Order: sequence, then C-alpha cells, then structure tokens
Amino acid sequence: MPQVDLLLRRCTLPQGGAPQDIAIADGRIVEVGPALTAQAAEAIDGQGFLVTPPFVDAHFHMDSTLSFGLPRINQSGTLLEGIALWGELKPLLLQEAIVERALAYCDWAAARGLLAIRSHVDVCDPRLLATEALLHVRQRVKPYLDLQLVAFPQDGVLRSAGAMDTLKRALDLGVDVVGGIPHFERTMADGAASVRWLCELAAERGLRVDMHCDETDDPMSRHIETLAAETQRLGLQGRVAGSHLTSMHSMDNYYVSKLIPLIKEAGVAAIANPLINITLQGRHDTYPKRRGMTRVPELLAAGVPVAFGHDCVLDPWYGMGSGDMLEVAHMGLHVAQMTGQAAMRQCFDAVTTTPAQILGLEGYGLQPGCRADLVLLQARDPVEAIRLRATRLLVMKAGRVISRTPAQVATLSLPGQAEKAVDWLRPAA
Ligand code: FE2
Repeated sequence: MPQVDLLLRRCTLPQGGAPQDIAIADGRIVEVGPALTAQAAEAIDGQGFLVTPPFVDAHFHMDSTLSFGLPRINQSGTLLEGIALWGELKPLLLQEAIVERALAYCDWAAARGLLAIRSHVDVCDPRLLATEALLHVRQRVKPYLDLQLVAFPQDGVLRSAGAMDTLKRALDLGVDVVGGIPHFERTMADGAASVRWLCELAAERGLRVDMHCDETDDPMSRHIETLAAETQRLGLQGRVAGSHLTSMHSMDNYYVSKLIPLIKEAGVAAIANPLINITLQGRHDTYPKRRGMTRVPELLAAGVPVAFGHDCVLDPWYGMGSGDMLEVAHMGLHVAQMTGQAAMRQCFDAVTTTPAQILGLEGYGLQPGCRADLVLLQARDPVEAIRLRATRLLVMKAGRVISRTPAQVATLSLPGQAEKAVDWLRPAA
C-alpha cells in the first residue's frame, strides 16, 4: 500500500469483530483491515474502542438555539407558550446574535462528534433575518460541519400572510429543503392544501421535503397520509421526511395498519424527536398520560427509515440539551421501549446512518472511499455508547482531528467480562 496520511489503529467497528485499522489519505478512507502495513505520516492508537461515522441530527432549530430566557423564560414549559414566546422574540432578533449563538452551538456539536445537522429555519419573516444568518453560518462551518437548511413556515405557509412568498425567496437564497407545518394551518383542508403546494414546489425545484407533520395529540390529524400520497403522485420517493408524526401515537390501530404501509410504499422517512415529544406531548391529558412519540418500532418493522432528532437545545421550547445525539438516542430508546438487543442498535443507527441517508450525505460511512469523518468513542459497542453517553475521545473531519476529550473513568463492562476502565488508564507495569 502506498504512503497514507494517517493510520487509526485498533478500532472496533459498529458491527463488532476484531479490531481494525483505518488508513486515511487526502481526507478519505482508503483501506480498512486488521493490522494494515501502510506507511503513515501519523498513527493514532484506538485502543480497541468503538469508531463510528459522525453523529447526524436530522431535525434541529438553529435559529432559536441557545436563546433560552430571551425575552423571558417559558414558565409552563408547554409547546403553546413556546410558540408564543418565539413570536415575542422574533421582532427582537439580531442577525449577529443568531450567528453567534449558532456558531457556539456548532462548536458544541463538533466536540460531541455531531458533524451534520438538518436545521429548520423560520421563514415567516419578511426580512428573512434568520435565513440570512443561517446561510452565513452554513458557509462558516462548512469545513467541519454539514449544515442543511429547511425553509420552515413556523406560522403556517397559508395561514401567515406573505409566507408563500418569503418561503420561495428563502429557497432562491439557497435554502436546501422545503418545510411545512400542515397541522398549524387554519383547517384540515388548508393543511392538506399546504402539503400539496409545498410538495409541488419541491418537485418543480428538485428539492427534498421535510415537514413538521401532525405534531399534536389529535388522532384525527392525518397530514402524513397526504404527505405520503403527494410524494407518490409527484415521484418524490426517497426525498421526503415527515418530522414528529406524534398524532400517530394516538391514532386508531386499525387506521395505522393502513397508514404505515402507505408511508413505506411512498418511500417517506420518519423523524421522531424523543426529548421534545416526551416533554411537549400529552400536556392536555390527566392520567393515563400519553407519551406522544410516533410509533418508532412499528415504522422500523415495516421498513420505514426512522431517525431521531434533537429538535431544540436551550430555546423557547426546551430548557435542556447539549448537542449530544447519544442523549437523544438514550431517550428514544426509553420512550419507544426499544430495549431488545437489535432495537438498541437501531437507536444508534437513528442518530448516525439513518439520518445520513435522509439528508443524502455524500461519502458517509466507514468503507474505503468514504470521507474520513470519524468519531472514536470510549465504548466497546453502540449499545454501550448509548448507555454511557460515551466520551468522544477523538473527532475527525476529512482525516484531521478537530476535537479531543480526555477519557473518563467509566463502568465499561460487567465485572469479569472485560478489563476495568482504569486498567488502560494506568501506565504499563
Ligand atoms: Fe421541530
């Protein structure tokens, strides 16, 4: 093998097996195998820890992130007070402040191995202030983070005067994906009309679609059915995602038995947001209280791609979060009761490979030819990574280390099954 730039030695791949070496040249993976003999300018010992492609967040709101407390705190913690609060904050937003907060969040993300984010940006603003700010941020972070932007009409593309025009202008400026919020339109009929109009717009422009869809506890909110039908009618298969889909939690089982095959047939992906769905849904219930998250195991069983998104971090809707997709996977696993061995691994896929597929990321993965974007986790396998919200020992972008975090003393394995965490921290006797 010719000279390479970097050899990442002794790493465990997500599928397990004996530790492998990864050879990297010109920002790409050139070979993966045991004990590679390539001459390398630099070598890093992975010490048998888990290496994965980076985390991917399929659903985020970067225009509001880190604005917690502005102009006041959401006292009730509810979705409706959050939307009202965002309405109060919007006229006070300054472009520089949005940029500053977004860049700070991207730093957090990169340090946690989160190197691709699909962020919705509110386009119900004639000034398109947040849109311009995030387009600028997309450019600034490009060397280390793929930021994909969704034109999101927060107040309803039909309900909010002028939103059809501002949404188109946002796309003209270079926003990547068409968004929507059909359940927030004035009527069910308007919601369905908005889905049709937005899907036609995406088809005309050759863009992907990602709508906030049925983010309610109303079992009759059924815009996902229209989204699937429009996807099929317009030939958008594989390019459309329904975000949240929380009403599906409350729908009649018989109806869902018809709906899920329609979603599968249309090639529509689902994006659940476990941290937010578990806190915002079911708020009108007494007891029993619904969880509100969409039917993740059932969608997966039908072959529908399901990703988990972070949705919010420290904003009007959510006063928690840190950009850690393992925290998102951890919550998703619990809320969906995905505690079977295969199901826990699917929760890891829901924050890595599946959202990468939904975003259409080029060169994502650990095969030769893929971009050398890697995360070395202080864990032995994906399930342990979720359990520990494992330390990102090293984050690499295009073959360059962009972040390191010192190892933590952690309970890595059951007693007697493997060495204790501290064993490898101690110098050899
Ligand atoms: Fe959202």
